[in-house]
This record gives sequence, C-alpha cells and structure tokens, in this order.
Amino acid sequence: MEHSSFTSAAVLEDGPDALSRLQDRHGRLITDLRVSITDRCNYRCVYCRTGNVGAQYAELPIAAYVRMVRAFVDLGIEKVRLTGGEPLLRRGLTDLISELASMRTINRSPLDLAITTNGHLLEDQAWRLRDAGLNRITVSMDAVDAETAARITRVPGSFDHVLKGIQAAQRAGLEPVKVNCVLLRGFNDDQIVPFARFSRERGVVVRFIEFMPLDEDRSWTLDSVVSYSEVKTRLESLRPLVKLDPTTSGETAVRYTFDDGIGEIGIIAPVSRAFCGECSRIRVTSDGKIRTCLFSQSEHDLYAILQRGGTDNDLASFIRRTVIMKEARHHIGEPGFLKPSRSMVHIGG
Ligand code: 5AD
Ligand code: SF4
Repeated sequence: MEHSSFTSAAVLEDGPDALSRLQDRHGRLITDLRVSITDRCNYRCVYCRTGNVGAQYAELPIAAYVRMVRAFVDLGIEKVRLTGGEPLLRRGLTDLISELASMRTINRSPLDLAITTNGHLLEDQAWRLRDAGLNRITVSMDAVDAETAARITRVPGSFDHVLKGIQAAQRAGLEPVKVNCVLLRGFNDDQIVPFARFSRERGVVVRFIEFMPLDEDRSWTLDSVVSYSEVKTRLESLRPLVKLDPTTSGETAVRYTFDDGIGEIGIIAPVSRAFCGECSRIRVTSDGKIRTCLFSQSEHDLYAILQRGGTDNDLASFIRRTVIMKEARHHIGEPGFLKPSRSMVHIGG
C-alpha cells in the first residue's frame, strides 16, 4: 500500500508541511466526504423524518460549502457526495456542482462527484446537474408500487415523480443510476423480488439497505431490520445469484448479478455485517459540523472556524485533528447503544 509507510507521528503533525494523507488513529485512510447542503426535505420517509413538519432548518451559503470541501480535498479526499435533506431543493446547487467539478484531488485527477436525492425534482434537473459536472447519482426509492411508496414517503404521487426522475437521469447519461431501498419489515419487505425485476428491466443498480437507528421517530428495533441473509434468500428465489467484485476499496455494498448476467443488486448491511473496519468516510452536516461517524455522540464545528476568519491552514489542522478521533465502529444492537444526537435528515446519507 502506497500509504502504509506513514508513521502515526507524521499523521499527527499539523500545518502546511504535513505530507500525510487524511487518516484516523485506527489506520483508516479517509477519502470519501459526504456533505449535507440542506436539511429541508419535501418527503417525510418513515425511516427518517417524523410526521411533524415545522422543524428548524440549517443551511450555509454555497461559498461556505465550497471552501470546506476544498480544505478536505487538499488533504486527500477523492470522492464527494452531496446529500441532504433533499439536495435538489437547494438554491445554487448547479453552481456548487460546477465549483466542485473544477477541483482536483491531490493526485491531480478530477473529483468523483455524486449526489443522493429522493428524485422528486430530478426530472427537471437531471440535465442541468449533468452539464454542471455531476458524475453519479443515487436515487432513494423504497418501493416499485405507488401505494407502498406513498406509505413510506408520506407523499401521494411520489412514485411517479421518482420514476420519471430516474428515467431523466438515465437519458442525461448519469448512468448507471443507483436506486437505494431501505428495507423496513412490514412496509416494503415484499418489494425485494419486484426490485430485482426492476433492476433487470430498467438497467439500474438496486441497493437494499438495512434500516439503521437514525430515524427522528426513534422507532427502530432490531426486529424491523430485514437482514442481509434474508434479502439474499429472497433474491435467490427469483434466480441464482452470482457475486461481483467490489468496484472500489471503500465499497459498502456486497454486489450481485444473476446467473444470466442481467441486473445488479447491492446489499448494504451496516447492522448484520458492519463494515466499520473499512470505513473511508467523513461527513459534514448542513450547518458545517464534522461528524466522524453516523453514530457519533458529538460534532466538530468547522464552519465556526471559517466564520472566525480562519486560514486554510486553520481549517486543515482542525480537519486533521478531528478525523484522527474517528470512532472504531458503531454499537448498534449492543447493550447500552446510544442513538446518535441527530437523525439522518440532519446528518446526510
Ligand atoms: N436507515 C438506513 N438508511 C437510511 N437512509 C435514511 N435514513 C435511513 C435509515 N434510518 C438512507 C436513504 C437515502 C440515504 C440518504 O440514506 O434511503 O438513500
Ligand atoms: Fe427526505 Fe431522504 Fe429523509 Fe426521505 S430519507 S425524508 S427523502 S431526507
């Protein structure tokens, strides 16, 4: 490995001369940044938002996100994913994408720039996002029938919008479109085989995600999780599965196709098969706080440094010091597990 020769002393060194890549105290290289650019959302998915509307919103000026992302990229971040809330609600999104698309990694290659959206506004925006320099898109869609989809998003008609959004993204060349489905027992566990057919017919990559305790309603229980092995068994009832190699080193999905090579399914199993040991991620919330883990109990206010007139070096050393503290793993399902201080809609996927 290119980076294995760095000593922990080099990692701890701050300032402009520190040559080391962003790394935590457990030796994990951090290459993947997720930035939430709004915590507003036009859906209220049952596994995410409460049904109550009227919460307070936190957003920063686009220029602040650009500056924070640049500080991370200068330290070795290679992939940036924009999330929310719903990022397509954010004014200035195409400007932000253009700015980020012009950044270079420390290896001088372009950033890998992706977005996660609920797809509701995608039909209108797909081309614009692509033109601005977006590379990849993930659409959250939790059912392939309209009634189940509406029950989960709590917005009637959401399914038609999302379907049109996916088609528009495909036409705009944002392929392969990935579709994320969070499985919830009693809501959409009957959708596994229909989603597999959907992948085969529409040429999208479908990824089943185990439900995590990140919902505002705090209704998560271990019993509500549809596990990796259960998903696999259901898929095998359609056709035999063939395992695919991981596409990248930080890949969280175990990838499968079927015996005829048609369709692609990923299973992301943070609960039953945690991948914390391989985690290469760091997150920034829509109000500019670094979260070292989805399940962190604390946050680190990067925006406060920027607001106080901090230099690029100030930002860099704060990021280094924060990243070092990244938690070894989550403790979902263990006695004494503490739900995180904020839910997914505030943290960003
Ligand atoms: N558990 C698992 N995944 C979740 N997401 C949102 N909340 C949860 C949860 N509680 C997913 C969404 C989206 C991404 C941003 O995170 O489906 O694809
Ligand atoms: Fe909105 Fe995404 Fe949360 Fe659904 S999961 S309510 S689309 S932020």
